[in-house]
Amino acid sequence: MKKHLLSAGDLTREEAILVLDTAAELLGVARRPIKKLPTLRGRTVVNLFFEDSTRTRISFEAAAKRLSADVINFSAKGSSVSKGESLKDTALTLQAMGADAVVIRHHASGAPHRLAAADWTNGAVVNAGDGTHEHPTQALLDAFTMRQHLTALRGSQARTSGTDGGDLAGKRVTIVGDVLHSRVARSNALLLHTLGAHVTLVAPPTLLPVGVESWPVETSYDLDSALEGADAVMMLRVQRERMNASFFPSAREYSRRYGLDTARMNRLPDHAIVMHPGPMNRGMEITADVADADRSVIVEQVTNGVAVRMAVLYLLVGGSESEGNA
Ligand code: NCD
Repeated sequence: MKKHLLSAGDLTREEAILVLDTAAELLGVARRPIKKLPTLRGRTVVNLFFEDSTRTRISFEAAAKRLSADVINFSAKGSSVSKGESLKDTALTLQAMGADAVVIRHHASGAPHRLAAADWTNGAVVNAGDGTHEHPTQALLDAFTMRQHLTALRGSQARTSGTDGGDLAGKRVTIVGDVLHSRVARSNALLLHTLGAHVTLVAPPTLLPVGVESWPVETSYDLDSALEGADAVMMLRVQRERMNASFFPSAREYSRRYGLDTARMNRLPDHAIVMHPGPMNRGMEITADVADADRSVIVEQVTNGVAVRMAVLYLLVGGSESEGNA
């Protein structure tokens, strides 16, 4: 593994499979009555959240605590950032506290890269979402969830993946909606490509980013045709907070063309799963019926997120030294 996890595109196939295999082992811990391992005892993980978050922040906090790390949670609101303190000064303050890992979510694309490149911290930097750019641990937990449902690998059997593939080769994943503002879509496109899956992005033309031609994906404006033959469909949130103009005529029109309702869901093959990174706009990109349907794995994605983040922290911060101590 490299020192930091900044982009899903930085992971080789072997590294990605290692994270997924490790997460499969760690998922068992979450099912135990006592959900704790001593692996990162004495290590400090700082969660640096400059942007609102519910599940990602809680997930990283739970992951670090289940590995027995000391966790410092920092949120920009109520801190000196609201007095104008820069990322650099915030990072140097945390460095002075001896962070072994810094998990950062920031509204500016590239903030985690800046933190890693500028040597403002000695710790491993984990990108927990930067602007509209990337969200690599979300892509990993999504791949983990697809692997659980779409491949024969289950639990510790995943350990054998080195010999029998264990990736998502040939699987068809359709990602739908506000790709333009979605760091989830970009990270998924990169990781799924590395794992051998075929990705189709479906969005209105106004919600596809400039340069999407260079992504390893197909694009379509027609949701119905992109659902046939899909193994997984991932609905993206319409990110109104990032929209400074009108990207579609009305919410109703958007839902009609790009929302997933029961009729559309029924076009999917029987084995196909429905995903969403959350938070959902129920009634906009996904109806409540679909969100709560049997083939929806949205709650599982959240559960798997903790195991995947445990794996990432363990692989970046743990290593052989702490293995020996554990
Ligand atoms: C995503 C994010 O923050 O990028 N959510 C998440 O991490 N669970 C997607 C979103 O906000 O729509």
